[in-house]
Amino acid sequence: MEKKATIFVICAPEISEILHNEIKALGFSKSTKHRLGVELYGSFEDTMYLNLHLRTANKVLWEVGKFYAATPEQMYHRAMALPWEDEIDVDGYFNIDSYVKNDTITDSRFANLKLKDAIADRFAAKKGRRPNSGPEKDKIRIYMHWRDTECILYYDTSGGVIAKHGYRKIPGQAPMLESLAAAVIMASTWDKKSTFINPMCGSGTLAIEAALLATNTAPGLFRTNFGFMHMASYDQEKWEAMVAEAKGAIQPCEANILASDISEEAIEISQTNARAAGMEKCISFSVNDFRDIEVPEEPGVAILNPAYGERLGEVEDLKGLYREIGDFFKQKCKGYFGYIFTGNRELAKVVGLRTKRKIEFLNAQIDCRLLEYEMYSGSRN
Ligand SMILES: C[S@@+](CC[C@H](N)C(=O)[O-])C[C@H]1O[C@@H](n2cnc3c(N)ncnc32)[C@H](O)[C@@H]1O
Repeated sequence: MEKKATIFVICAPEISEILHNEIKALGFSKSTKHRLGVELYGSFEDTMYLNLHLRTANKVLWEVGKFYAATPEQMYHRAMALPWEDEIDVDGYFNIDSYVKNDTITDSRFANLKLKDAIADRFAAKKGRRPNSGPEKDKIRIYMHWRDTECILYYDTSGGVIAKHGYRKIPGQAPMLESLAAAVIMASTWDKKSTFINPMCGSGTLAIEAALLATNTAPGLFRTNFGFMHMASYDQEKWEAMVAEAKGAIQPCEANILASDISEEAIEISQTNARAAGMEKCISFSVNDFRDIEVPEEPGVAILNPAYGERLGEVEDLKGLYREIGDFFKQKCKGYFGYIFTGNRELAKVVGLRTKRKIEFLNAQIDCRLLEYEMYSGSRN
């Protein structure tokens, strides 16, 4: 019978509801939302599928064991009792990462070392030899979550963060993480068919993520290495069939996606990145001040991610820009939903429009908001 275990999909704070919706939409009906992720129950194949398709996740973890451990010695003995040889080849290589918050341990590296010893000693006892382990992160990865006396050990089937979707070659100025850009779009009212304008596109992340959504392109298609590929349960043929199915599900882009930026360099970077994602044909790029762009009559959404300044002087300087974004929405985006993604509440106040929703996000430890404005068309203006 196919082995099943708890799957914990980790995400950034504030987006677990979006991730939960994504997981449900992929057909996993039984799952529980937590603050930093979503828990479900499934097979190794399910972890492959989630890694291939999830846009807003950081990592897909597959549980090996969960136990009570008050001390490093207890953890060592309980970890040694787990069947590591089921997934790790004796000639393989593994790396350990952890989050440890436990009174008996002050340095998580010590916990990692103790876990490594437990796995190595089990192998030595069962097979007479042991796999290698060390800092290389591109093979089997094990993740330990040890809080107080509850210790959970997982395989990190992603083998590193899948929040980066792998197509972006050039970062540009203050780029958004791909998973965050996808979450921002999913939190908006965009239907993947109507107009999508991104007038301060920077390195193009929002526009490219919009195109990936509109074409139903799985973000995992850009990666060539996942942690699961090094585990014994990995079946390359099954993976190739899954990839072929995902490629077959790619649809033509129906939406009109426009990306622009005042900087010529930003547009060059965006175009290179869009090409790397295979999305260059879905997006119309132009070098333009946002005030001058021609907004298509057929409405949709307009998402802007302006700078939000870190120092006081910068924030003062940016107030005029935010006011003008408000004017731009009012005058040029009738019938649209306008969005500003910003990390500064003071700047949010000068936009001069009534926000319909304020959606919270955390971006690089900064509290951010996606501000939503509904711009009524014609008569309701
Ligand atoms: C914070 S960055 C956007 C980052 C983007 N979300 C990404 O993922 O790369 C802000 C961008 O606004 C652009 N910008 C600033 N003033 C502008 C204006 N008046 N019109 C159009 N773009 C402008 C900058 O050139 C910069 O690329």
